Amino acid sequence: MSYIGADLGTSSLKLLLMDEDGSILASVSKSYPVYYPNPGWSEQDPEDWITAFKSGIKELLKGQDSKAVRGIGFGGQMHGLVILDADDKVIRRAILWNDGRTEKETEYLNEEIGRDKLSRYTANIAFAGFTAPKILWLRNNEPESYKRIKKIMLPKDYLVYRLTGIHATDYSDASGMLLLDVEHRCWSKEMCDICGISEDMLPGLYESYEKVGTLLPRYESEFGVKDVTVAAGAGDNAAAAVGTGTVGEGACNISLGTSGTIFISGSSFRVDSFNALHSFDHADGGYHLMGCMLSAASCAGWWMDKVIESKDFDAECEGMEQRLGRNDVYFLPYLMGERSPLNDVNARGVFLGLTPESDRKDMLQAIFEGVSFGLRDCLEVARKLGLDVKSSMVCGGGAKNRLWLKILANVLNIRLTIPACEEGPSMGGAMLAMVACGRFGSVKEACESIVSVKGIIDPDMGLANMYDHKYKKWKKIYPALKLLFNDHN
Ligand code: XUL
Repeated sequence: MSYIGADLGTSSLKLLLMDEDGSILASVSKSYPVYYPNPGWSEQDPEDWITAFKSGIKELLKGQDSKAVRGIGFGGQMHGLVILDADDKVIRRAILWNDGRTEKETEYLNEEIGRDKLSRYTANIAFAGFTAPKILWLRNNEPESYKRIKKIMLPKDYLVYRLTGIHATDYSDASGMLLLDVEHRCWSKEMCDICGISEDMLPGLYESYEKVGTLLPRYESEFGVKDVTVAAGAGDNAAAAVGTGTVGEGACNISLGTSGTIFISGSSFRVDSFNALHSFDHADGGYHLMGCMLSAASCAGWWMDKVIESKDFDAECEGMEQRLGRNDVYFLPYLMGERSPLNDVNARGVFLGLTPESDRKDMLQAIFEGVSFGLRDCLEVARKLGLDVKSSMVCGGGAKNRLWLKILANVLNIRLTIPACEEGPSMGGAMLAMVACGRFGSVKEACESIVSVKGIIDPDMGLANMYDHKYKKWKKIYPALKLLFNDHN
């Protein structure tokens, strides 16, 4: 028997095929474009996800026993708004999690409706990338599209809908819509009223490890599979947490993907009085707190692809290890504005401290350090809340880079544990499918049987001290520039 995990990411769809003991039999990645129609906006065409899925599955199953596939589970980029009309056709391109167009709507929700009420209804306040402000943006800016809405979906849920014909979502992903009462795991009537939508426009709610349905017959024949269970799946961070075994009380996972997140799992519901961290449901049936940076590994991708136009990442990193802690170039990683903890859609990327001696290695190192400082900012919020994070799992594309992990361990001054497979969300997706198919009795059991560790990085006291000093200096850069970022003249 085998199971497919699919991670509907921002830059690509990653698929993996896992046997029933958790060994990875094959993996495939299919990329698709992100459209940036205006600065700070980001969109994708849901049809591109479907195309990637169909060609990816065929490639994944080539040479494999496709009839042994029992289940599929998804992890998906969160918060994206996919809207369908009365014929279940997509009305416009999806507006993604890192899109900052909803500044006014976010302000309306937080200031006029009020943070207290939002937090009471949903356990969260509004951030620009969340789904509810996007619905209000449509009402204000594209009333024709808004009037045609019959169904509101998240990215991975659109894929599940196309594969099964069922409108479903799971609690972890639904948490990021600002429409879910996270504590009680039901849609918030008050939030639906505020957005002018009715509950029947929203998908049915499932636990991430529950079966939603089976693959439609036309896909069974297209992919050469039979009786495949489709699990509800999870938001990519909750799926990644499952994939790294971050379940139950107090475990932590850091994801270095397009976004950068710190995810602290909890068995009971919690919300901090400032709503500084997101309070969401977890894919194991529990809860979690999370801080999210909008640009993490994507900053290194931007540097390689757009600035220096090089593919040789190893060459760019060569010799950097000897220079750790001694770089005088600083980088603010706010290429798409920033969510946690700044909540500022107008913040932008910055290099500071360049001299005639500065070279491209200093700048790439500043990127690794700047992203790590951004994650430390999120960790400091958790520490202020009394959460004592001493170690964390790591996953995502950036976690394949040991040098970056060494910087991160020292900037955060915690132990980092590297799982055998860094592909957290797709791994977690496959594990959720296993639970949905009855291979394991719970998500915890799946984690205990499947997740293994391949390395540990401990901080070094001298380096951690140097980075502590640098973090304090880095921390002063954004406040000094905030007015400039927000000066629209
Ligand atoms: C989490 C978030 C991102 C996306 C990236 O709140 O917005 O991590 O899920 O895919």
